[in-house]
Amino acid sequence: MLALLAGCSDPKHEQRLRAAGPNPTLDALLKVADVGAGERRFGQCMACHSVAAGAPDMAGPNLHAIYGKPMGRNRPGYGYSAALRDAKGTWDAPTLDAWIQRPQKVVPGTAMMFSGVSDPLDRADIIAYLRTQR
Ligand code: HEC
Repeated sequence: MLALLAGCSDPKHEQRLRAAGPNPTLDALLKVADVGAGERRFGQCMACHSVAAGAPDMAGPNLHAIYGKPMGRNRPGYGYSAALRDAKGTWDAPTLDAWIQRPQKVVPGTAMMFSGVSDPLDRADIIAYLRTQR
């Protein structure tokens, strides 16, 4: 069912993936990434995250202008886990990519309970979308 929905909402997925070449790097995937597809993929994040400027934190922190920010600092009023607050990374593309795939691998002990997005192009689409939300 999910795969079917994915196929319907993003008919150009396979085409874009092919355009990125064999075994594409994250940079190659970001070149063919689609902001609109990323916005649709972001739907699975919206159970816990708002992204509009001024929108309140939910179970997770608002992600407005998260791209390029230090981890666990973007929303001072949000109750970050100690693990994320003490993490030293920056939300650049490679870090977001690894996080969206498996949050616990990037910051062990994080409170983000999310199974992860396994498709690399879906992740690149989400990153491309987040980069526009600034
Ligand atoms: C089940 C709820 C849930 C879902 C679904 C979820 N998140 Fe989160 N997210 C959280 C929580 C909770 C935190 C705070 C984690 C902590 O404090 O350790 C978080 C933190 C984050 C952060 C760090 C923000 C900061 O201010 O440093 C990013 C980036 C993020 N999530 C992106 C995403 C993206 C993108 C998706 C969808 C692909 C997603 N999340 C799906 C709950 C969720």
